[in-house]
Amino acid sequence: MIRVENATKAYGTSVVVDGVSLELPTGGVTSIVGPNGAGKSTLLSTVARLLPLDGGRISVAGLDVSTADTRELARVLAMLKQDNPLTVRLSVQDLVSFGRYPHSRGRLTETDRALVRTAISYLDLEGLEDRFLDELSGGQRQRAFVAMVLAQDTDYVLLDEPLNNLDMPHARSMMRRLRRTADELNKTVVIVIHDINFAAAYSDQIVAMKHGRVCRQGSPEEIMTSEALADIYDMDLQVHEIEGRRFAQYYF
Ligand SMILES: Nc1ncnc2c1ncn2[C@@H]1O[C@H](COP(=O)(O)OP(=O)(O)OP(=O)(O)O)[C@@H](O)[C@H]1O
Ligand SMILES: [Mg+2]
Repeated sequence: MIRVENATKAYGTSVVVDGVSLELPTGGVTSIVGPNGAGKSTLLSTVARLLPLDGGRISVAGLDVSTADTRELARVLAMLKQDNPLTVRLSVQDLVSFGRYPHSRGRLTETDRALVRTAISYLDLEGLEDRFLDELSGGQRQRAFVAMVLAQDTDYVLLDEPLNNLDMPHARSMMRRLRRTADELNKTVVIVIHDINFAAAYSDQIVAMKHGRVCRQGSPEEIMTSEALADIYDMDLQVHEIEGRRFAQYYF
């Protein structure tokens, strides 16, 4: 379980995560949605300890994120950041293998290698293993970073906008993969996502943030109403039901 209690984060005098409390159960897919600047990435980064909290408390699988041992936390939780600047020249193979570092400390076992191969195959990167990251397209690079996160094989997987730069088939295949990761491997998957229809189709619950706070939280059915979506986005969206699924649509 991920337990967030009264989490607060400010930049200078600007409070961008404002007393958020959330309980995300073990297993399943949670989508975090909401407008630009709502605090989604900041919240996710505090859960992964990429940013320190100013107030409140976060625990993941019983580990207090602010005090947990770094290696122990890295074995439990992996996160894809929204932006992944290329600071060193790495091949796809090196990047994904790097995901095994908290386990292998640089000496890959056969299990490590198998997890790297599986992640590369899941993200449709076969044939690109030896390519440097700066020689890939935007979507291929995004898939390489997600492969690096999945190769870590942690119980908790946090992904900030995993669909960035992906074409439609790869976006759908990414969501299917994440769903299966939760269902078949009993992982807890938390994603930040802008496409509300993808969020609704593949998540167990949706958390909507606005102005640093949780403004709505519920099942896809509860969030996929014109009223809830208007509240979240300050925009009129029509919700249609096709074959038992709800879709949101706006007019151009
Ligand atoms: N390093 C920083 N210094 C100052 N302000 C920041 C910093 N990082 C983010 N912010 C501000 O904090 C607020 C929340 O940012 P955050 O990145 O969490 O939003 P988000 O919900 O992820 O938005 P998006 O959908 O655009 O990714 C924004 O107003 C942003 O301008
Ligand atoms: Mg963000």
